[in-house]
Amino acid sequence: MDFLELAKKRYSSRNFLEDKKIPKDLLEKIILASSLAPSACHITPWKYIVIDDKNLIIKLQKIAFKTPFINKFTASASAIVIALSKKNFLVHKFFGFFQDVNYNLLDMGASIENLILEATSLGINSCWIGWFNEKNIKKFFSIPFSYKIVSLIALGYEKNEETKINKLKDLENYKNIVNKNIISFNEFK
Ligand SMILES: Cc1cc2nc3c(=O)[nH]c(=O)nc-3n(C[C@H](O)[C@H](O)[C@H](O)COP(=O)(O)O)c2cc1C
Repeated sequence: MDFLELAKKRYSSRNFLEDKKIPKDLLEKIILASSLAPSACHITPWKYIVIDDKNLIIKLQKIAFKTPFINKFTASASAIVIALSKKNFLVHKFFGFFQDVNYNLLDMGASIENLILEATSLGINSCWIGWFNEKNIKKFFSIPFSYKIVSLIALGYEKNEETKINKLKDLENYKNIVNKNIISFNEFK
């Protein structure tokens, strides 16, 4: 599939088909794609825990989202990926401090985007989740102190086919936005 077509197909899904499992080999493929991302000094700080057991997904939903309404839809996901990062002292703390850039989060963002786009290419919908209770999740899964949970990614199959069509991004519209706001050649504009 042409890459622009793939990017156009991706959207945040918050309504998954209940009880439809994602085959393990596809989950492995998705994580493989995430690990092919570039990272500062090739530190590859990522580690992923894939939760695909329904009871665990429901448990995770309960402990991760205590605020009313927020991210409750995750209970319907077929899998929830916990994206962990281990900070490297030299690159993330020392170089990152002097450059004033969070290399760790840049690495993780690149890796998670690969993950999500590979899922899209396999016909699996997703939602990147940045609001959750890290402390509760770390405690429940006995995640060592040296790892930080940077995001969760809900994966599953869209329940409402119409949503898929409605959410297809209008490339013409995007082209206009890009031309006006995001890009300038050879000068800052
Ligand atoms: C770092 C990050 C954190 C996000 N956190 C959440 C979240 O906690 N809950 C949620 O429903 N969506 C979350 N999203 C999804 C965004 O709301 C969504 O990408 C945005 O509204 C654009 O919509 P689209 O993904 O359908 O193009 C997050 C996205 C990113 C990149």
